[in-house]
Amino acid sequence: MSETELKYLIEQLPKAELHLHLEGSFEPELMFEIAKRNQLKIKFESVEEVKEAYKFNNLQEFLDIYYEGAGVLLKEQDFFDLTWAYLTKVHSQNVVHVEVFFDPQTHTERGVPFETVLLGIYKALEKGQHDLNISFCLIMSYLRHLSEESAFKTLEQSLAFKDLIDGIGLDSSEVGNPPEKFEKVFKASAEAGYKLCAHAGEEGPASYIWGALDLLKVDRIDHGNRCLEDEALVERLAEEQMPLTLCPLSNLELKVIDRLEDYPLREMMKKGLLVTLNSDDPSYFGGYMNENFIQTALAIKLSRDEIITLAKNAFDASWLTEEEKLKRKEEIDEMR
Ligand code: ADE
Ligand code: ZN
Repeated sequence: MSETELKYLIEQLPKAELHLHLEGSFEPELMFEIAKRNQLKIKFESVEEVKEAYKFNNLQEFLDIYYEGAGVLLKEQDFFDLTWAYLTKVHSQNVVHVEVFFDPQTHTERGVPFETVLLGIYKALEKGQHDLNISFCLIMSYLRHLSEESAFKTLEQSLAFKDLIDGIGLDSSEVGNPPEKFEKVFKASAEAGYKLCAHAGEEGPASYIWGALDLLKVDRIDHGNRCLEDEALVERLAEEQMPLTLCPLSNLELKVIDRLEDYPLREMMKKGLLVTLNSDDPSYFGGYMNENFIQTALAIKLSRDEIITLAKNAFDASWLTEEEKLKRKEEIDEMR
């Protein structure tokens, strides 16, 4: 397959994105616009200066800038605009289903009401479903650098809007904040009816993935790269067909990997893992879904069949009904 054919295939494929932080899709242009209308100053003078600052040596260096950027979001309209910008962008890339994270505590800690955040996001997702035909799930993530008590407070705040939220995630600074810190609040979240996923094994060790499985009882692992260090864990993940939401450009930008050419994606597929490709924080890491697919496919020379398998995996790994999964996979087969 030529490079042109590969790009065409990836652009045409109907795709699902399962690992996307809405706050991480905040493009500098929109950040300046919202800061201006909220009469807030950001520490950068121009869009170019912002982009220049997006050079990270690890997860924490990124998170510091990510939380600062999110600090200009105050009103329901701001959260709507953020979400709508993401949806229109991925619509142009043929993404037909999204399961997106938001971090309520990033905003409630600054005094923005939970309801303001949630309704802004939800109204944009509904409009995306209606106008762009993008189906969605919404995932509320607890920040792992904060206490379990704070996560419990967030769970409580969410209950009035339970019908609008599908699942719980766990993100932010991984190392030093192991899954066991959140065991009780994940149990309570499951009892409230939420599905569960957690970032694990991005920078943290394989033992955090075991913890996410056995203590948090997740339905999906976000990242999970470091499972490869533990043969028994890989076997368990493969046997259970536990989805892993990989984010290649994020891993590259946060120095989880040195080169995309070394991305162990094929090795993971050969071991029978249910892996998917996602963008994580596209405005910070230089690429949405198609860029993640294309750059990875070129770097490790993915075949047409491997690319199609990855696109199908995302529907299998999603929280769509079995019927919807089948329908989406049939649409892919019809492209051949
Ligand atoms: N929050 C936003 N992006 C994240 C990532 N890649 N890991 C952990 N927390 C995050
Ligand atoms: Zn993430």
